[in-house]
Amino acid sequence: MKFFIATDHAGVAIKPSIIKMLKTRGHEVVDLGPSNNERVDYPDYAHKLCLKVLEETGTQGILICGTGIGMSLAANKNTNIRAALCHDAYTASMARAHNDANVLCFGERVVGIGVAESIIDAWCNEGFKGEIHANRVKKIEL
Ligand code: RB5
Repeated sequence: MKFFIATDHAGVAIKPSIIKMLKTRGHEVVDLGPSNNERVDYPDYAHKLCLKVLEETGTQGILICGTGIGMSLAANKNTNIRAALCHDAYTASMARAHNDANVLCFGERVVGIGVAESIIDAWCNEGFKGEIHANRVKKIEL
């Protein structure tokens, strides 16, 4: 899988470990920034990442801020982006299986690296189940 990843200043510390983990598991990762912890606005990075995911079919995104809330709110303003704020492996797995989520959001101030890794593993190991869920997902866009 090819992932785009972006954070704000409150997600930048955990980012190198996440990138390393993804690469170790054989994924391609493109880091869209930022590269330091100077204060930035999470919507700027959320929209930048969503554009990339929408441009390149089949790719997915990972957005990290303090809580993951701001990133998910901003990302979901983009048509055809289904950003899921996940706190554990179960929500990550269901976001893929039932919601066909294409952007994973979580909070660096909420989960530690261990939980973050289990979220990502659950996300990567699950696929969209389609069928009844496909109709519901279609209804998300107004
Ligand atoms: C930054 O302090 C914080 O507000 C941001 O990272 C995020 O948690 C917003 O939802």
